[in-house]
Amino acid sequence: MTDQCLEAGLTCAAHSGFRYLVLLLGVAAIAYATYGLATKRDYDKTMRILSFAFTMALDFTVLLGLATLFTGQFYPQLGGHIVMMALAAIVAHVVYGVMKRRPPAERTYAPHVLGTAVVLAILAAGILSIGRSIV
Ligand code: HEM
Repeated sequence: MTDQCLEAGLTCAAHSGFRYLVLLLGVAAIAYATYGLATKRDYDKTMRILSFAFTMALDFTVLLGLATLFTGQFYPQLGGHIVMMALAAIVAHVVYGVMKRRPPAERTYAPHVLGTAVVLAILAAGILSIGRSIV
């Protein structure tokens, strides 16, 4: 975590730290979906829970990011960070929401592999856009 973020207080520190949980859950969701796809297993509850946990952790990080903004932490470069992170959250919700609404027999692992990879790529770009390291 940067000194700048530490000085901004606990909200920024929590926002910064939560990225590890988000990234970890994203990687876990992709790994589980890839395994399901490779072994041709039926779509199961674990996949839905992993996708839900990833989306919720991301939402919470977004909330902490907004709270950090309200502590007065702002500079123009943050604009790109915010737009990309909002987009990542939308894509994560679309993946989770679409799969949840599909009849169980039509649910597959592939959208989780692809969709979550897209979300992680946008998150990585959003972090790099403010010159911070991804891990
Ligand atoms: C729309 C949602 C978001 C807003 C409004 C937001 C806002 C902010 C703000 C105000 C900062 C402080 C900048 C600084 O100290 O230089 C920041 C830093 C950061 N944000 Fe976000 N953010 C959002 C989403 C996310 C998400 C989803 C992630 C990761 C999963 C993330 C990861 C980070 C990281 C790693 C930093 C750098 C903190 C440090 O200096 O250690 N942000 N964000």
